[in-house]
Amino acid sequence: MRSLAIFPQRSTLEAIPPRIRTAMLELGINIDHVATIRQARKTVEPDPVWAAALAELGGADCITIHLREDRRHIQDRDVKLLRETVRAKLNLEMACAEEIIQIALEVKPDQITLVPERREEITTEGGLDVITQLQPMTETVKRLQNGGMFVSLFLNADPKQIEAGLQTGCDAIELHTGNYADAETARDREAEWHRLQVAGTMISAAGKRLHAGHGLTYHNVLPIALIPQMRELNIGHSIVSRAVSVGMQEAVAEMKRLLAQR
Ligand code: PXP
Repeated sequence: MRSLAIFPQRSTLEAIPPRIRTAMLELGINIDHVATIRQARKTVEPDPVWAAALAELGGADCITIHLREDRRHIQDRDVKLLRETVRAKLNLEMACAEEIIQIALEVKPDQITLVPERREEITTEGGLDVITQLQPMTETVKRLQNGGMFVSLFLNADPKQIEAGLQTGCDAIELHTGNYADAETARDREAEWHRLQVAGTMISAAGKRLHAGHGLTYHNVLPIALIPQMRELNIGHSIVSRAVSVGMQEAVAEMKRLLAQR
């Protein structure tokens, strides 16, 4: 295992009692991969509804699912059942597509994270381009908010995109941590971390909640968790992978224990 480089000054957080620090940072578990295994055989197992319950027992603050237009993993039935069973926050990732907007308005998850979607991609590859879609994006944010949902936008740590994102009136911005996670050298990782930190400062100075996700693992999560304004992390692949060995409840509990070092 490579050693963790902790970039932030711990002193910025140390003034806050540890229990409050932990409570301030919510852990969202993305369970799409559980549905991917089920869809590989088009059968009924493993059921993401069970996985969500076990994730909650392990301490998940939020269950995150992505209802893609191609339905490659999460199905409409999952969204409806999870709305009834999840006791933590339910976060639905979705594209700005009318069919999915209608489902969101009907099911009413607690939170929506708007993401870009391309059919040929393996997973969400980057943040939204809000600059070129400012008007439709603003309308979608407003429709979902009027439906009672808290709306987050998934964006790269690009100040121009963040400025445009803030203009939509969204409630939160989730920063894409893929470049940070994929950085091959400590210097590149640190540069990516600084970009995220500057973007995070812009977002929280505008009064919006700061979220982050993509490519976060047990090995690289702490520096992101230590960005002082960070309020929610969404993690899928690493935790579902760990769950294959130790079970979902324990995999989530391990991540919660790690984040408690914050
Ligand atoms: N956040 C968003 C917006 C995503 O699209 C994804 C991947 O579906 C994640 C977080 C989780 O990424 P990972 O599976 O790499 O942890």
